[in-house]
Amino acid sequence: MATVTTRVLRGTPRNLNRLAAALRRGELVAVPTETVYGLAGDALNPDAADAIFAAKGRPANDPLIVHLHDRRQLASLAVVNESALKLARAFWPGPLTLVLPKLPAVPDRVTSGHASVAVRVPSHPLFRKLLRLCGRPLAAPSANLFGYLSPTTAEHVRAGLGGRIRSILDGGPCAFGLESTIVDLRDEARPALLRPGALAREAIEAVLSRKLRVPAQPAGGDRAQVVAPGQLTRHYSPRTPLVLHASLPAAAVVARHSQEVFVFLARPPTPHPANVRWLDERGDLRGVARRLFAELRALDDGAWKKIHVELARGDDGWGPAINDRLHRAAAKR
Ligand code: TXA
Ligand code: MG
Repeated sequence: MATVTTRVLRGTPRNLNRLAAALRRGELVAVPTETVYGLAGDALNPDAADAIFAAKGRPANDPLIVHLHDRRQLASLAVVNESALKLARAFWPGPLTLVLPKLPAVPDRVTSGHASVAVRVPSHPLFRKLLRLCGRPLAAPSANLFGYLSPTTAEHVRAGLGGRIRSILDGGPCAFGLESTIVDLRDEARPALLRPGALAREAIEAVLSRKLRVPAQPAGGDRAQVVAPGQLTRHYSPRTPLVLHASLPAAAVVARHSQEVFVFLARPPTPHPANVRWLDERGDLRGVARRLFAELRALDDGAWKKIHVELARGDDGWGPAINDRLHRAAAKR
């Protein structure tokens, strides 16, 4: 792939107008969202979709999420049902993605040939301005090289996609730090949770007044067996070996493994050895989620032999999404 100069741009009116014009011409722009940074292209232009897959090194059979400015645009792209309307009213703009039967307006290359399309209305103010100015739905996967940790700052995007894309819109660190929750509503009678994420499952179940099914994950992450596309077992992976723990060892044990780093959810009691990190001062899981990918990236750039991480406890709220990303990141190649 030919190398281009990558510019990181602030969200001034002039920059936003230029980026909107570039998107309408079929160019790609990395954008901030409330979850993670996305690599956006015109969702109605199949060539833009191809360019997204090429820039990320992403296999063409892993479909893209389409982002809308307004939930009223949904009916032009997907077959809408009552459950979708309820969830859209309750949670959009926000970190919820709905999978619905697609209409012909959505190119097959965006959905990797599937008869369904994944859609969300994001809440990040700069991305919303860009969506409005550009006037098109924008397809955007996370703006990382395929398989690596998702980016939560403009600098993370540059580290992975620098030289491969022209423009990165800098909207500061992402508020949530983990991807959207994906709900399959193709069959309203059997709604399914395809990916736990930044919106808690319980909140969705409360609005639908029914439980979400969780489709079985294929064993071994074999692409040929993937039922929910893109949900490979191995994903979000640092290069450094990652070891997960229900609870991390005591300070004396940690100190003996000085070439390995130990990441706690909360700040452990002082004094602690130099190879100790924590994700949130008090272990608040919202704070843990926000920092998780950024901390793993920073440690991956260091010389550590192993990264040990403490798993979140609890099977509600943020816990399942955090542990899902950790398990995928730690899965064997
Ligand atoms: O928070 C997010 O969702 C971020 C930001 C940028 O919006 N996007 C994101 O996209 O995480 P990505 O491409 O990294 O993950 C999208 C996943 C796919 O891997 C696939 O599992 C699922 O969405 N998906 C997309 N279209 C689908 C479809 N038609 N049916 C089932 N799953 C689909
Ligand atoms: Mg991704």
